Amino acid sequence: MPLVNTKKMFEKAYQNAYAVGSFNVDTLKMCQAILLASEEAKSPVIIAFSEGSRDFMHPGNIKSLILEISKNISIDFAIHLDHGRSVEACKSAIDEGFTSVMIDASKYSYEENIKHTKEVVEYAHKYGATVEGELGGLDANGEASRFTDPKLVKDYVTRTGIDSLAVSVGTGHGTTKFKENEKLDLKWDILESIQKDLPGFPLVLHGSSSIPKQEIEIFNSYGGKIDNPVGIPEELLTRAAKMNVCKINIGTDFRVAYTGALRKSLFEIQNHYEPRYFLVPAYKAIYDVVLYKEEKVFLSARKD
Ligand code: G3H
Ligand code: ZN
Repeated sequence: MPLVNTKKMFEKAYQNAYAVGSFNVDTLKMCQAILLASEEAKSPVIIAFSEGSRDFMHPGNIKSLILEISKNISIDFAIHLDHGRSVEACKSAIDEGFTSVMIDASKYSYEENIKHTKEVVEYAHKYGATVEGELGGLDANGEASRFTDPKLVKDYVTRTGIDSLAVSVGTGHGTTKFKENEKLDLKWDILESIQKDLPGFPLVLHGSSSIPKQEIEIFNSYGGKIDNPVGIPEELLTRAAKMNVCKINIGTDFRVAYTGALRKSLFEIQNHYEPRYFLVPAYKAIYDVVLYKEEKVFLSARKD
């Protein structure tokens, strides 16, 4: 059964020095692109829903819809709630059959964060789901105070019982990851220090899109407007994947590729009105993003 939680997935990723890609979806067709591209790459993968995209997909049916389209899929995949903002949201995703949830409680005080996260872990583990916690602010963008404090990690992991931890080491959400003149680099000392205290414990990088110029050009040439695009250089992600980072989140690259291709085909194709004429190029664009990241950046292709 290829629908799994992230436990063994991350153990294998750590042992074989790669990271599993987690891609943020909005539609079932996007789930299909992820599954088929990962099947081609023979790579494990995570299909991630934000609370908003889960609502859009109609909660209650998501697991069964994905199981239906994954009948011929042999790679391991997880269905994940990304940035669950409350204990209730996480419990509801677990009730629906999500195999992994993130509880995003870093906006609370340290002790409150532990309390919320522990409650999710206790519930999730009863149902065989795994939990990602968060320490530090994921939109740090150079704000040192929001970087994960490595001295807290062991205490946080032990007291919450989480299965993986989202860390703030210089990545950030959105299309501008670094300020002007800021060095495009990550806080390797934080990752190394956590590795020393908790060898092999799986870490997660959010905000890890690389915002490729060619994708932004397509997007902006057909009526889109993304200013100051600066992403995380791919070589930094590969370096992190070889360390204790076992999951890398991609939302923006995936969505910009889809929407850019859609904008282009809507503009260029004038004599058709069948939606598939416009949606096929968008589908192909995200299929290629997944394949490329797994084969060239996360090193997760053909490893097991
Ligand atoms: O949770 C989702 C990811 O952290 C997305 O990050 O904006 O770099 O794609 P991104
Ligand atoms: Zn995120």
